[in-house]
Order: sequence, then C-alpha cells, then structure tokens
Amino acid sequence: MGSSFEPFTIEGIHFVGAYSRESILATKNFQSRSDDIFITTFPRSGTTWIQNILIGLVYGNEVLEDIENFEIQNLSPYMEIILNGVTGCERADTTVKSPRLLKQHLPTHLAPSEIFTGGRRNILVARNPKDVALSYFSFYQTEPFLKKHLQSPDLQHFLHKFLTGHVNYGLWWCWIKKWIQFCRANPDTNLMIHYEDLKEDFAKEIRRLESFLNLSPMTSETIDRLQALTSVESMRERLDTEKNYKGMGVVNKGEANRWKTEFPPEYVEKFDALTRETFGDDEIVAKFI
Ligand code: A3P
Repeated sequence: MGSSFEPFTIEGIHFVGAYSRESILATKNFQSRSDDIFITTFPRSGTTWIQNILIGLVYGNEVLEDIENFEIQNLSPYMEIILNGVTGCERADTTVKSPRLLKQHLPTHLAPSEIFTGGRRNILVARNPKDVALSYFSFYQTEPFLKKHLQSPDLQHFLHKFLTGHVNYGLWWCWIKKWIQFCRANPDTNLMIHYEDLKEDFAKEIRRLESFLNLSPMTSETIDRLQALTSVESMRERLDTEKNYKGMGVVNKGEANRWKTEFPPEYVEKFDALTRETFGDDEIVAKFI
C-alpha cells in the first residue's frame, strides 16, 4: 500500500499524516462483519476515552488492567491510519477478535459504507466544538506529522483554520451535522454520546451503552472499576507505555468546558454563530455553544 505521507485531498477532505488515498478508500470499502461496532468521532472528541471504555465493557476490565499487553491498535484499530506499514483495516482483518471495535474519523461521504448500507452498530461521540478546537490545537503541537504543518503557534491563527475547515477531516460543523442526521434517522443502529455527559454522569452513559449493545448490565462496583481504569490518570499511565501513543499527547487535560477560560471572546462568538447557523433552533445547539 503506497504511503508517502505527503498531504493530499480526497473528495474535498484534506489529510496530513500517516494516511494515503488507498487507506482512506480501503476504509470506505471495508468489508465488515455483522457484529462489528464502529466508533465514529471527529478527532479530539474523546475517541481514545470511549475506545478504552468499550474495551472494558465488551472485552472485560482485565484487558485494561493488563498494561503490558495493552495495544490499542490490536484491540480497537484506527481504520484509516497506517502504522508500521499496516493500515487499521488490515489489522482489523488479521488481529482483532469479534466483536471488533473499529475507530474511524471520516465524514459520512468517506466513512465505511456498510455503516449505512449494512445496518452496522455505530457509536458517535460528540463534544463542544470550542473544546475540540482547543484540544486539536494542543495536538497539532505534539503529534509529529501535524506539528510540521502547524504554520503558527498562535491559537487565534489555529482557530481561524478550524473555523474554515483547514484541519484534518475538514469542517467540524459539516462533519457533525451529517453524522447527527444519520444517527437520528437510524436510532436502532446508532448511539450518540456527548463527551460532557460522560464526564457528568459516567454510570448513566455506561447503562446507555450496555443497552445499545445488548450487554448484560455490569454491577455498580464493576462500573466504578471501569471508571477508575478509564480516568485521565489511568489512561495517561496506560498510554505512556503504549508504543504507538507514547509522547503523542493524546491524553491531555481531559476537562469539559475548558473553552470558558481559554477561548478568545471573539472566537466564542464566531464559533457559536456558526453552530446556530448550522443547527438553527435544534435543541442540540445547547450542547455545542
Ligand atoms: P483535551 O485536549 O481537551 O484534554 P481523542 O482521543 O478523540 O483525540 O480526544 C482527546 C481528548 O480527550 C483530549 O482532550 C484528552 O485529554 C481527552 N481524554 C482522553 N482521555 C480522557 C479521559 N479518560 N477522560 C476525559 N477526557 C479524556
């Protein structure tokens, strides 16, 4: 599979990093299994957190406790990325047991088509775009490929890029609107989780996940254990020893509403205006402003 890792654009979406046109198309055309569980997120929305939570829920907390053998790409592959010459899709086909927990960040028009045509289970995690942008700005400073393309260390410069869709995976508003439309139209196979709700009431969101995935309910002690194993501190410890995640800054502060103290006021207005323009009087606006 060709992977020069030069920036490229495919179907209007710009990519910088360990991707290729082939790895994106392989993800779009991925042959899934009927019990696959897709994890769909815009980057920096809590993807790794939900992956760890699902690993505990579906495979058992002991898998999270086994730090030495913990390798996310073998437990919940990132479909479109190329790691050591192997795409997440290839890893999913060779290494990962069923039911597979398949992470992908693609917009609806590039995402695995069987999510739409095969009725696959899909979990969408959404987060306030101002926190997504702040988190993405931090990530552009630590992730080696992105770092090279961060033209300026200035937050406002980055926020302008985010507002105009000049970041990996495109314009957040466009991306999230289409995914929300699809999830709402297909509630039996799609579940939407908000990062902020997970922070606020972890157990409640776990019950929603269990019911969506038809899992037997965990005891409240097991949920508490899962919460401890997926806390910011535990995740940082686990990922610091994970060869593909070490030093990448994936687990950062892990707070909700950081934008309230760190966002320039004129950008609060710009982000909120675009959110209102995108969603009109939809109740979801309250989650995103
Ligand atoms: P911040 O940069 O705001 O801290 P993703 O995995 O989609 O790239 O998302 C990364 C964001 O999720 C980062 O946000 C990171 O700190 C946060 N995160 C990671 N693990 C978390 C956890 N256990 N609890 C809460 N947030 C977490």
